[in-house]
Amino acid sequence: MPALKINGQSHEVAVDADTPLLWVLRDELDLTGTKYGCGIAQCGACTVHVGGEPMRSCSVPFSVAESQEVTTIEGLASDAATAVQEAWIALDVVQCGYCQSGQIMAAAALLASNPEPSDEDIDSAMAGNICRCATYQRIRAAIHRAAEQLSA
Ligand code: FES
Ligand code: FES
Repeated sequence: MPALKINGQSHEVAVDADTPLLWVLRDELDLTGTKYGCGIAQCGACTVHVGGEPMRSCSVPFSVAESQEVTTIEGLASDAATAVQEAWIALDVVQCGYCQSGQIMAAAALLASNPEPSDEDIDSAMAGNICRCATYQRIRAAIHRAAEQLSA
């Protein structure tokens, strides 16, 4: 049976090769922290890390994810991730919360590759993550705060 390495553990799953990763996470593994928004790689709600890169799990087939390390919001653990999570709480970023696991996954990936992002870097990296509550200003401020924390 094919296996998925996720959050450091291997799970055997009986799905077709073209099944979107998001379906495997939510329906097969009950990892519901990753959200379904649009289903067509347009909103970012389903963002997870595949091979360390932020990807839209609604549009990544199982056959692509199978050979790589997958991290979801449930398994996010790094200095950048901790700084992001603390900044999110300190600045009270979350409104309804629906988009936020995707936002946090994107922000953690940004800081892992760019520890001192400019406003433009943040806007570019986060552009694919839509927030219907329009928390964009707080997200940007929280990413700067997390960056400062990481460099302290
Ligand atoms: S649900 Fe995947 S990008 Fe919207
Ligand atoms: S916090 Fe509500 S959609 Fe972003």
